[in-house]
Amino acid sequence: MWPDRRLCQLLGLEHPIIQAPMAGSATPELAAAVSNAGGLGSLGCSEMTLDDLTASVANLRARTNRSFNLNFFTHPAPRPDQAVFAQARERMLPWYRRLGLGEPAMAAAPQGPGFDDARLATLLDLKPRVVSFHFGVPDRASVSALKAAGIMLMSTATTVAEARALETAGIDVVIAQGFEAGGHRGSHKPRAPADGVGTLALVPQIADAVRLPVVAAGGIGDGRGIAAAFALGAAGVQMGTGFLSCPEAGTDAVRRAMLRDATETDTMMTNAFSGRAARAVRSDYADEMERMQIDLPDFPSMYDLSAPLLQSTKPSEVSFLLYGQAARLNRELPAAELVARYVAEAEAVFARLRTGQA
Ligand SMILES: Cc1cc2nc3c(=O)[nH]c(=O)nc-3n(C[C@H](O)[C@H](O)[C@H](O)COP(=O)(O)O)c2cc1C
Repeated sequence: MWPDRRLCQLLGLEHPIIQAPMAGSATPELAAAVSNAGGLGSLGCSEMTLDDLTASVANLRARTNRSFNLNFFTHPAPRPDQAVFAQARERMLPWYRRLGLGEPAMAAAPQGPGFDDARLATLLDLKPRVVSFHFGVPDRASVSALKAAGIMLMSTATTVAEARALETAGIDVVIAQGFEAGGHRGSHKPRAPADGVGTLALVPQIADAVRLPVVAAGGIGDGRGIAAAFALGAAGVQMGTGFLSCPEAGTDAVRRAMLRDATETDTMMTNAFSGRAARAVRSDYADEMERMQIDLPDFPSMYDLSAPLLQSTKPSEVSFLLYGQAARLNRELPAAELVARYVAEAEAVFARLRTGQA
């Protein structure tokens, strides 16, 4: 039924539907259920230790023998800029006081880059069928080593220039992520422009610019969105928000409740938690930081200052609940059933468009 089967052939899938890697929310149970249903399950591995990564893959492999995707952020090691840290700390002090928290950290804890030789070696050992990156690509040697091991590589682009850069770097599949998307923007620039490009505009322009299969991501919440992605020139979709309401997802109770009543205007783009732009539920803290427009510590050092604020009990005051603009379309279904629904809905749209019958 799929009008473009390139992604299915390349990644060994029945359906070109990728469950987005969502660090903290995509569990091995969720990823395995999606892969077993014929899509591509993914794990967001950026925040995992190497032991966690190995254990998660063992857990996944115990549940499925199909393709799955392991995802990593590729940000450089954050620069220890004490002046920037001190300025952000100063601005956040009133929030610490208001929430009755202690003193904010005086300096960022040293951290390495998102992707490094140890992760590379572990991946070469684990040999997943697919690895995806967010924020760009790792160095050329890592890309070559992963490709030489027969691993298919995907990465996110938020502009045409980024998609071209991924093609030049040897990536196999481009994920075109529109501004509607929940979670961190995969922009290759640490300070992404506030006026991002939406999925409807981005996908056809990237599909024209590169020869690689393009996967559409951002604001796709049902079979209509999936069919639209193919009309725009995509060979598949990556959906994150839609899978957050599955019982297998690691979504916390507060976010599950918010997703039940979600609207298209709940969220905003904010860098006030991690130091990089992400779409999350609007909050007073994020609004205020947005108005201030100050330099923030590099991703992910900003979490050293923002994490304690998340103890606030009111999501509208301070929260970092990631979801996208199409959350209202979410359904609370087991992942296998959800994938089957998405496939059936897309098929119905394709048929309706072919026959012209409403
Ligand atoms: C809760 C959440 C966490 C996410 N974490 C990651 C991540 O760890 N790595 C990544 O590449 N993308 C991540 N994303 C972005 C997704 O890959 C994808 O671009 C996005 O979910 C698509 O838009 P949608 O949420 O409207 O479906 C995340 C998205 C959400 C909603």
